[in-house]
Amino acid sequence: MAAQKKAKTNVATTAKMQVHFHAKDVSTLQGQAVVFFSQSVGQKEKSAVIVEKEINKIFAASVAEKMITGTANEVVLFREANLNDFRHVFILGLGEKTKLTHETFRQSAAALIKEARASKMEEVFVGFDNITSGKKDLAKYIQAFVEGLYLSGYTFDELKSVNGKKEDKKTLQIHLVSKSAKDKSLVSAFQQAVIVAEATNFAKRLGDMPGNMMTPTILADSAIKAAAGTGLKVTAWDKKRIEKEKMGGLLGVSQGSDQEPRFIIMEYNGGAKSEKPLAFVGKGLTFDCGGVSIKPSAKMEEMKYDMCGGAAVIGTMLAIARLKLKVNVVAYVPATENMVNGRATKPGDVHVARNGKSFEINNTDAEGRLILADGLCYASEQKPKFIIDTATLTGAMAVALGNVHTGYFTKNSALKNKIEKAAAESGELVWNMPLVDHHARDMKGTYADLSNMSYSGGAGSATAAAFLEQFVDSDIPWAHFDIAGTAWACGNRLNYCTAKGATGVMVRTFLEIVKQYV
Ligand code: BES
Ligand code: MG
Ligand code: ZN
Repeated sequence: MAAQKKAKTNVATTAKMQVHFHAKDVSTLQGQAVVFFSQSVGQKEKSAVIVEKEINKIFAASVAEKMITGTANEVVLFREANLNDFRHVFILGLGEKTKLTHETFRQSAAALIKEARASKMEEVFVGFDNITSGKKDLAKYIQAFVEGLYLSGYTFDELKSVNGKKEDKKTLQIHLVSKSAKDKSLVSAFQQAVIVAEATNFAKRLGDMPGNMMTPTILADSAIKAAAGTGLKVTAWDKKRIEKEKMGGLLGVSQGSDQEPRFIIMEYNGGAKSEKPLAFVGKGLTFDCGGVSIKPSAKMEEMKYDMCGGAAVIGTMLAIARLKLKVNVVAYVPATENMVNGRATKPGDVHVARNGKSFEINNTDAEGRLILADGLCYASEQKPKFIIDTATLTGAMAVALGNVHTGYFTKNSALKNKIEKAAAESGELVWNMPLVDHHARDMKGTYADLSNMSYSGGAGSATAAAFLEQFVDSDIPWAHFDIAGTAWACGNRLNYCTAKGATGVMVRTFLEIVKQYV
């Protein structure tokens, strides 16, 4: 291939896809297929415009007949078009010109990948130079596009005996082209995208693995293995150590399981020694059957994704380390199963968390808050700049916000601003949920300090958050993200996610939060 021989390329690889970045003018290249972006313009009567001006004439009839509309994620393939030195042409819709964001590119990349695979393409060129005149926007768009390519390149077929190999032997070569591809900002955008998407895909895989293959021990070992060579220090405490550390919440949940719990600690020191760290805590519940308060059978198999909070935190740490961010960050993942055996916690049992607060377990299925309690206590002891925790904590969150927004709770307005800014950068939708002292009052215990569930009815996600709040040092800014609705099966609205499967949600947003402290 001419372009490969001549142009100096940045290359990144996934299983069945290679993405190249060429410092060239796409009109001087040749290959199997080329992509032109289209947008829809006009106030009332929308019509499509192809971003490369000279191409509009060629497709004028298709535009007039509304075969090309410029709608977001529209992919129109013209085979054997023989345009310039390309045989096939894709016209890829970006939607309304005035509404163009980086998320548009993330999604359009996924739409393109799907169509390119379906039409059995092996080589696709995408030019970016006519999209925008702003370098900053271009970097953002390219970063989002590469993220979209990689995120939609993720498949979970390692447990099938064919391992996906039989179905699709060909590697799809995607060539991104920009005259300024060698500019520092674009090179860095490309590299960042690869790192962020790989970390997200790593988190997805942890969530997709079945409970028997992603036990607390395996989760800890996966974090240790993935961290090798990145500068991250990872430690996993075993049951004995967890007992010594008086983590009664984590132990109480794990006593109903034959699998040993783990308390995973990840440390990254990219900042000055004197700088306090940022702290993340993630729920690592590798399978939640509910315990004695057992869940109904329907969809119980999906409760393997109850460790997606932990997965998001592990993925975030991997990305921080690979990006070599100049900041200190720690992460804690209490990991256990919630199962039922003769030693399992019974409704009415009382356990004591690391900070000495006692709780009565009135529903053994409200277990996430119990293991997070110890994680939050431990995080508070490190006196970090903030504590952010994330968990698939409540079904109520999925009822309230569906799989559209991740709900977050915080009483700290400065942290709230940082979160909103980060989400705007990442493209992940978040929604600020209410948390007031009423919620905390609902969590008072009858026999112990606290009850693990509220009896006043409703606001189940907020009362869960209020329970967690009892384990955070009140001087430390804290936010809690409930990803119960967004950690799984978002393919219906995000085409770079699978229909059934983990999403790796919050890795991108957490990374953007951390970047604000660099
Ligand atoms: N892991 C679940 C929450 C969950 C439900 C996540 C559905 C994803 C999808 C959590 O441990 C749980 O069972 N929470 C209970 C709490 C209740 C008993 C107070 C719930 O939401 O029903
Ligand atoms: Mg539960
Ligand atoms: Zn759970």
